[in-house]
Amino acid sequence: MDKKWKIETKAVQGGYEPGNSEPRVLPIYQSTTYKYDTCEEVAKLFDLQAAGHMYSRISNPTVEALEKKMAMLEGGVGAMATSSGQAATLLSIMTICTAGEHLLAANTLYGGSFTLLKSTLSKYGIEVTFVDPELSLEELKTYVKPNTKGVFAETIGNPSLNVLDFDKFSTLAHDNNVPLIVDNTFATPYLCRPFEHGADIVVHSCTKYTDGHATSVGGMIIDSGKFNWDNGKFPEMTTPDESYHGVVYVRDFKEAAYITKVRVQLLRDIGATMSPFNAFLMHIGLETLPLRMERHSDNALAAAKWLEKNDKIAWVTYPGLESHPTHELAKKYLSNGCSGVLTFGVKGGREAGEKLIDNLDLIKLVVHVADTRSCILHPASTTHRQLTEEEQIASGVKPDLIRFSVGIENIEDIINDLENALEQL
Ligand SMILES: Cc1ncc(COP(=O)(O)O)c(C=O)c1O
Repeated sequence: MDKKWKIETKAVQGGYEPGNSEPRVLPIYQSTTYKYDTCEEVAKLFDLQAAGHMYSRISNPTVEALEKKMAMLEGGVGAMATSSGQAATLLSIMTICTAGEHLLAANTLYGGSFTLLKSTLSKYGIEVTFVDPELSLEELKTYVKPNTKGVFAETIGNPSLNVLDFDKFSTLAHDNNVPLIVDNTFATPYLCRPFEHGADIVVHSCTKYTDGHATSVGGMIIDSGKFNWDNGKFPEMTTPDESYHGVVYVRDFKEAAYITKVRVQLLRDIGATMSPFNAFLMHIGLETLPLRMERHSDNALAAAKWLEKNDKIAWVTYPGLESHPTHELAKKYLSNGCSGVLTFGVKGGREAGEKLIDNLDLIKLVVHVADTRSCILHPASTTHRQLTEEEQIASGVKPDLIRFSVGIENIEDIINDLENALEQL
């Protein structure tokens, strides 16, 4: 497959290449198992000495096509699909962090990721320190510990919408010989490719713009293949894995060491596997990713500018607005637009905001973002409900914040809906 293709071509053609007389469209391989000619061949597969599918908990041809397309889009050496974005985040960290070790994470993470890292990982002995991503590099460095194994942040925070300072965060990680893991869900590889800015591992909630149509839950881990695991800090990468008769990931899989390890150890053991049907839908969804992201970004910018001028609106946050605190970072790292999510507050606070949501017609109240259809939500009472008020404020969720995921409908219809709902206040 030609890796020199432009991203629009990769989105349409990448991942699946039919042979002579094979289906033009990626088939759904709804099979848990695979057939072999000899016992010796199966044994080689189980010892990781030959490539191939063993069992659909670990890999499947339809899922593999999606993984290949995502790796192409992000510019990585390999990818692994998971059953959800949460599973991708969890497995990406568990591959490098075990009990007694430490992770640094931005405090502006999506509420579900924050809770996973804070509540669940701590129960399994992984300590996470949450840091304000706007701190200076010097200040951030004071949070690094001898047992820190990675740095985790989002390209565009959900829903604070702060754009990550990749230079600062990759320096923070690399000066300490640990990888930078970036959740690129909101930006997608069409707007930002974190590997080009120093990230080592990328994760996605494919439930969002990858699928794009709100049909399927799924996640993805992508490996840049560039991190040097042989630096003394990651012995599991450089010493024999007895569960595979002495495989050594760095020695045997070279630049694909991390993505191989996460699959053959954690996907094997934990089984957070994506179904072939979801992979099929996401593979099709990706074909229109560049078109969708362009329209989402254009519509969101137009809606943000319109809201900013409306006298019933208290404030608007969108990285594409000059007023946004990380607008300069958006110009630097988001080359094709600032994605489809914006946030705002209505004069009159939380109560007025809830009334506005109830008054909307086209824009639906939904616990989701990144759908082709415009949708809206009050995070403090839903997605970020499990956080304390202090944690909510730190992660950018003010009590009156409304999260608006701008769809790809005609922008005039979207604005008319907002206007009608505001007039009724
Ligand atoms: C930025 C981000 N990361 C991860 C997740 C978790 O993904 P999933 O819901 O697919 O488990 C979400 C979900 O909203 C998200 O917005």
